[in-house]
Amino acid sequence: MNFKNCGIFFVTICSMFVFLSCSQKSPHSIPTGGIEALIPFPKSVSLIGKVEDGKMFFSGEDIRIQGIEHLGPTSEVVEAWFMGVGVEVRKDFATNANLVFEITGDNTDESYDLIIKNDVIQIKANSEVGLFRGFTTLRQMIPNSCEYGGCVSGFFLPEVLVSDSPEFEHRGLLLDCCRHFMEVEFIKKMIDNLALHKMNVLHWHLTEDQGWRIEIDAYPKLTEVGAWRTELDGTKHGGFYSKEEIREIITYASARHVEVIPEIELPGHSQAALAAYPYLGCTGEQLEVANRWGVFKDIYCAGNDSTILFLKQVLTEVCELFPSSRIHIGGDEAPKVRWHSCDKCQNRIAEQGLNDEHELQTWFIEEIGLFLESKGKTIIGWDEILEGGLPDGAVVQSWRGMSGASQAIELGSDVIVSPTSHCYLDYPLSSTDLKKVYSFNPRPETVGDGRVLGGECNMWTEHTPQHLVESMVFPRAIGLSEVLWSGPEFTGASGAYSDFVKRLEPHLERLSILKVDYGMESVPITLSLAVQ
Ligand code: ACM
Ligand code: ZN
Repeated sequence: MNFKNCGIFFVTICSMFVFLSCSQKSPHSIPTGGIEALIPFPKSVSLIGKVEDGKMFFSGEDIRIQGIEHLGPTSEVVEAWFMGVGVEVRKDFATNANLVFEITGDNTDESYDLIIKNDVIQIKANSEVGLFRGFTTLRQMIPNSCEYGGCVSGFFLPEVLVSDSPEFEHRGLLLDCCRHFMEVEFIKKMIDNLALHKMNVLHWHLTEDQGWRIEIDAYPKLTEVGAWRTELDGTKHGGFYSKEEIREIITYASARHVEVIPEIELPGHSQAALAAYPYLGCTGEQLEVANRWGVFKDIYCAGNDSTILFLKQVLTEVCELFPSSRIHIGGDEAPKVRWHSCDKCQNRIAEQGLNDEHELQTWFIEEIGLFLESKGKTIIGWDEILEGGLPDGAVVQSWRGMSGASQAIELGSDVIVSPTSHCYLDYPLSSTDLKKVYSFNPRPETVGDGRVLGGECNMWTEHTPQHLVESMVFPRAIGLSEVLWSGPEFTGASGAYSDFVKRLEPHLERLSILKVDYGMESVPITLSLAVQ
């Protein structure tokens, strides 16, 4: 090629990833696992002797399990995984087992010990969930190629001692299934991948201006009308989850020790409900399910007793479905313009001796909070719920930076942190790349000494239909999983990020085998060559 003749020549390299395998092939092509791809990295890991000397071999016919019953409903998940590896699982070995699950206490913490030594693997924990976290570490040590039947001849593992526990108890992902609807199987796959990274909360955003996604028996129009929107081009978008599907998802998540916390937004982000039942709003005007993004002024009327009754009935059905001890009630981005000019809302303000609409919001949320308390639930709300005074007993989720967290802690509340600066996975890589997420400190000094329960990454989906969601969530959520499990002291240490990236490379190979459509770590390098 004559470069002189082709003018300006641009070469753009969109992405350059080199995947290194963590599993070296032993003689006879038996793969060897190891600790090279553990994420989140355990609190303490020590190899016993030299890896080459201390190898344990699992033959393809020979997984002999003792104590699988200690895993409860999770035992089926563990068994199915080993069968997927291609080995025959034999259970109920009182002696001569080579994989032993042992309960050593009686609390519900997630700590565990994993010991691979003298041809036996032991996982010891105080609880079912601890045993499952230990199994997850073992799974990440077993060669990638074993996922989906790749180890019919067995595999080698190094002898090792792992002792582990999480830094934060709440490690979540918010999934907005309202702006774009997601299928049940897709959500289950997301739950699998949360569990693979020891994340334990799916914060399921189920109601919005642009779609109501949860079946409620008492109010069928919520899904007949509220679950569907007409897009600007005239096409329909929507869908909802039947109660049966919701139970299926909760059971699936629970067997993987992921708690599903529903978010039922109030008083704002409620236009889909108002489209179904116009009397719920201040004006009573017939509205459409929103088909644009943004913040809308039509919200639930706080002065109308029927609206409160409606919400209590909806939440009764929500509480019947969801066993989580907390229910997220939203509370963010609720403009007060309608309340300001609504007689009913103004009457409520007068009758309750409130000063303004912000205090009316606090009254409204406290009313709902008391109702949920009577059902044995506490509420989580976005940091706007602080604006009219913190509702009693509420957990605050700080999203507009970390100041909501500091303020809530000063008021004695527990907090969950997911600031836009580090945890918003709908933001592009140019503002929030993997390194930025990994640098997040959920408990900076400015937050004080109160209880930070943990954090979440938030996957809002205005611009992300289902087929793009995994590429936005991964690998950034994997970075956050290490922040929340291994803790900011570990992730903030010098060299921690480059060590994480080294472990991520082979780990991504596992995700490819699992058909996770993960995205990039940072903005791709672009090389422009100008040849005259
Ligand atoms: C939020 O992002 N509006 C909580
Ligand atoms: Zn009103």
